[in-house]
Amino acid sequence: MRKKITIIGAGNVGATAAHWAASRGLGDVYLLDVVEGVPQGKALDLSQSGPIDPFPGLVVGTNDYADSAHSDIIIICAGLARKPGMSRDDLLAKNVAIVKSCAEQAAHYSPQAVLIVVTNPIDAMVYTGFKVSGFPRERVIGMAGVLDSARYRTFLAQAIGVAPRDVNALVMGIHGDNMIPLVRLANVAGVPVTDLLSGDELAAIVKRTQTGGAEIVNHLKTGSAFYTPGLAAVEMAEAVLTDSKRVMPCAAYLDGEFGISGCFLGVPVVIGSKGIERILEFKLSADEQAAMQESETAVRLQMAATGL
Ligand code: 2OP
Repeated sequence: MRKKITIIGAGNVGATAAHWAASRGLGDVYLLDVVEGVPQGKALDLSQSGPIDPFPGLVVGTNDYADSAHSDIIIICAGLARKPGMSRDDLLAKNVAIVKSCAEQAAHYSPQAVLIVVTNPIDAMVYTGFKVSGFPRERVIGMAGVLDSARYRTFLAQAIGVAPRDVNALVMGIHGDNMIPLVRLANVAGVPVTDLLSGDELAAIVKRTQTGGAEIVNHLKTGSAFYTPGLAAVEMAEAVLTDSKRVMPCAAYLDGEFGISGCFLGVPVVIGSKGIERILEFKLSADEQAAMQESETAVRLQMAATGL
């Protein structure tokens, strides 16, 4: 039987995720939104691409959560996006109500699904999904690190003049301006980036990565990034559906890992059919550990603001 992926929120990120999920052949894709007509229209348009670029699944648009029943994966993208001058935290009050409603209904119809949360501020919204769904921690994952690390790898690749896929680099912590692009461990096919770029060049790339979302918001003016956020969520979904054991940086609920308990933060995880199958813990430097603690403090403030 084909797998079923429900994407909640048919805006730019959700529709783009639907596109990647269909074209990668992940299964039947259900695009769900409260706005009548939008998920139906986008799904119909996407399904009509099949004769030109065939894919195996259905693409269905709906306003009814009952249609999402028995999904293997739920991706929540619903919510407001940033405009220039807004921080991700500015979205919290409105988006927590939206994510609560989405997670409640989705969990009711698909109690065995793996939940991937994309809505901002991601670390607080994935916590909201976790609390509201009642799912175990391994089945609730926040998308952020895959996107942030992709940005970091892109900037490193451009500066060094190599193919982006040969750059291995990890961004941990909060999905915010204090995210932690690790310089110490970044490498090009095993060669440390610290041997290829100067300290100033690396500092500029770290800064650009941390503000990578805002850079795009400032260009677009009416919203935020969607191509890579949509793809990042689908990359995570594919790892679950294929039980691939891919290692990706994701927002995971920590229970003592990296000395932190009771909150979601970006860490490297192994993804398989059960969701997060393992958190890859490793020894951080004193600076990195301090940065993780700063992330924790910021995320705990967001969590408090959710009222959950
Ligand atoms: C970004 O960084 C959408 O927060 C997301 O672009």
